[in-house]
Amino acid sequence: MLELDLSPLESSHIGPENGLELEAELRAWQGELDRAEQALKTRARNPEAMLGWIRQPEDTETAREILRYVEGLTWVKDVVVLGIGGSALGAKALISALRPEAPVHFVDNVDPAPVKALLSRLDPRTTLVVAISKSGATAETLAAYLIFRRWLFDALGEDWRQHVAIVTDPEKGPLRAHARAEGLAAFDVPPDVGGRFSVFTPVGLLPLALAGVDLMQLLMGARAAAHRLDNARKSALVLFLLERYRGKRIHVLMPYGTRLALVADWFSQLHAESLGKAYDRKGARVHVGPTPLKAVGATDQHSLLQLFREGPNDKAFIFVLPRDLGEDLPMPEDPGLTAADYLFGKGLRELLLAEAEGTRRALTEARRPQYALWLPGINEAALGELLQTLMWQTALLGELYGVNAFDQPGVELAKRYTFALMGRKGFEDLLEEG
Ligand code: PA5
Repeated sequence: MLELDLSPLESSHIGPENGLELEAELRAWQGELDRAEQALKTRARNPEAMLGWIRQPEDTETAREILRYVEGLTWVKDVVVLGIGGSALGAKALISALRPEAPVHFVDNVDPAPVKALLSRLDPRTTLVVAISKSGATAETLAAYLIFRRWLFDALGEDWRQHVAIVTDPEKGPLRAHARAEGLAAFDVPPDVGGRFSVFTPVGLLPLALAGVDLMQLLMGARAAAHRLDNARKSALVLFLLERYRGKRIHVLMPYGTRLALVADWFSQLHAESLGKAYDRKGARVHVGPTPLKAVGATDQHSLLQLFREGPNDKAFIFVLPRDLGEDLPMPEDPGLTAADYLFGKGLRELLLAEAEGTRRALTEARRPQYALWLPGINEAALGELLQTLMWQTALLGELYGVNAFDQPGVELAKRYTFALMGRKGFEDLLEEG
């Protein structure tokens, strides 16, 4: 069970200019939070509102369908996932946390050298290529797909089709048309779920199943988030208050441990694309959005912590801390290295958690606001709950800021300029305007 520890935010620890009167402020904003939650739940009935992610953890039937497909793929040794942004980050984060050894390779950039290097390492006879794009039209994903499809065709001839799975809109877009025309295995992205909220749809579930992640445990964890919504409500409110009224415009997510590092990447995209908006829901120009910043402990204690502790006091820190790290690795005694004798016989886990505690104390001493999300361990249920809680938190923050957290007009415009620069028909006018 995910535990939220807000206590270091108390203004009695870090002063009223940096901290909060937790009990009083939570009470004062209770009505606003109730309204925000109710507004989301009411709008969730409307498919146009893009709130399908709320119900997604209950959809175990889709997970079963994916598992049936994956069971038949006994010949697969490597999986290549083509997708970008919300079509890659969730699965990337969860695989690197839960199955870091799985041979699932993500192509989420169009830098030629790494793509060539990957192609040269793979055997097309034992490789499955999964192309994931809700719109089916994203340039980076289509570019990679063109290259990988030709690579499969050149090696396997007409059998290339068995080596491809598509995840896209059920009806619309070029990838759906292509999957139909070629008779490819295809899974649906529900139309009412946006990219960065889609980790519990086939966008995340198919790569995760291929990596051997337990989908049922993951979805069970995600469902638990709805029963403990207080974690999302309170954490959304404190981030909002810290940004609005204490000038903490940068929100640092700092998980501890390499396995959780990519959760910070996923979180950054979720917050940046959902909350960074020029207009509010009524159409007034607002230019809001806290800046998310990713960090990982203990690594970034030797990189960013100096700035965090002594630089401008304009940040709020969110620590993600696992109580259990699985099998520990003890540090052996070494008579030749007595300077390290304080480590002898202890495990890396103890050191990692001591690093986290040390960092947290150092930040509190410098009057920097922080809170912690404690995970019981690094497992499917814990991460399912964490990600769904952070999606709720983001959606509630969207309501508090009064913006639509489910569109991304800024991203769309950059995509359109890329089409124009690459000569796609119908986009010529954009360049003439510029
Ligand atoms: O969250 C989002 O909506 C975006 O990050 C998209 O996921 C990203 O742009 C990729 O889009 P698509 O899945 O249509 O290829």
